[in-house]
Amino acid sequence: MILQDFHTHQSNLDESSGYSLAGSFTRDLIASKVWLLTELARIAPQVGIIYVLGSWYGNLGVLLALDPIIKYKKLINVETNKKFLQASKRIHNYLGTGNIEYMLADANTLDYRQLGLDGVVINTSLTDMEGQAWFDNIPKGTLVVMQSRDHDPGNAAHSTQDIVDRYPLTEIIYNGKLELEDPETEYTRYMVIGVK
Ligand SMILES: C[S@@+](CC[C@H](N)C(=O)[O-])C[C@H]1O[C@@H](n2cnc3c(N)ncnc32)[C@H](O)[C@@H]1O
Repeated sequence: MILQDFHTHQSNLDESSGYSLAGSFTRDLIASKVWLLTELARIAPQVGIIYVLGSWYGNLGVLLALDPIIKYKKLINVETNKKFLQASKRIHNYLGTGNIEYMLADANTLDYRQLGLDGVVINTSLTDMEGQAWFDNIPKGTLVVMQSRDHDPGNAAHSTQDIVDRYPLTEIIYNGKLELEDPETEYTRYMVIGVK
């Protein structure tokens, strides 16, 4: 679903791995998402709607399509960059992934109207995304998965404590960190899974 035509937004693109398709599938980024899917599958192996905020090339959905360890009704890729969204659509079409929606939108404008009680909101782009409305607008009781990293010039959320201080949850189900290396530097990725 194309909601609105955005201009390509490059000012926030600071991730060390680069912004090419290959840069979005570096070993560390794949490891981060495999970690996410593994831990989420332990908590919720079957969910309703999955919102992926800042979905880039649809990487999380692609890894889930290749290894479907979580069953879902529909996965909604939310992305402000039209080129990334179009590329993710081409990749998913090639893979034949079903039940994917493409939403060209600022995550801060979402009303999560499709999110049911068994839905989940995933944001692996905490350090790339400005604003807090994407979190504030999530209905209470929703399962939320958040990842951030250190050694990143973006919004500071450089520990799991930073994440929960900034995005408070009523229940923290999982929190952890993973030591990784991107093409430029060693870094730590942090993840919190919980209920808003
Ligand atoms: C660099 S990528 C993802 C980085 C993250 N480490 C990962 O691997 O998932 C961040 C994406 O978020 C998108 N983005 C940034 N702000 C956004 C917003 N407010 N709403 C939707 N997408 C956004 C960018 O266009 C970009 O594709």
